[in-house]
Amino acid sequence: MKKAFIYHHAEDYTLIMLSDGEGVCSVSIDENIKSCACIYNLSVEEKYRRIGYGNMLLEEAEKVARKLGANVVSLAAEKDKFTANWYKRKGYKPLFSDKEYITFYKSIENEDNQKQHYPL
Ligand SMILES: CC(C)(COP(=O)(O)OP(=O)(O)OC[C@H]1O[C@@H](n2cnc3c(N)ncnc32)[C@H](O)[C@@H]1OP(=O)(O)O)[C@@H](O)C(=O)NCCC(=O)NCCS
Repeated sequence: MKKAFIYHHAEDYTLIMLSDGEGVCSVSIDENIKSCACIYNLSVEEKYRRIGYGNMLLEEAEKVARKLGANVVSLAAEKDKFTANWYKRKGYKPLFSDKEYITFYKSIENEDNQKQHYPL
């Protein structure tokens, strides 16, 4: 399935939209920890769900995060929703949880990003 993305680059986040309005998500760099990007508001129109758009948006959000210079992405999922298992299948690791939500992270390092590392 080939689909075009539309990007809106605001000051502190990038909005990613599927070209025909089927879905949307946003990526923002953590203001303090600039190597970490947060993915928010991943959402696909109800009538277009379960045909792969969510996966496309999530993968595109990770690409955008990499371009923004992030080495890690984080996102949150409600504990009792399928999304928590989906994120695990996509390589996300649970970081912490409260009563309702699990916060996940995933390393998205590539060669360019690794060059920015400093020895401890
Ligand atoms: C979450 C959401 C964005 C997924 O979008 P989508 O276009 O349906 O996703 P996809 O078709 O790409 O499916 C993604 C994965 O989730 C699984 N999935 C999707 N809907 C599911 C459901 N209702 N129950 C169980 N699994 C489901 C798919 O099988 C797929 O798994 P796979 O990649 O291992 O094969 C969409 O359901 C949505 O907008 N929900 C409301 C908003 C929301 O909850 N956002 C998430 C915030 S944490």
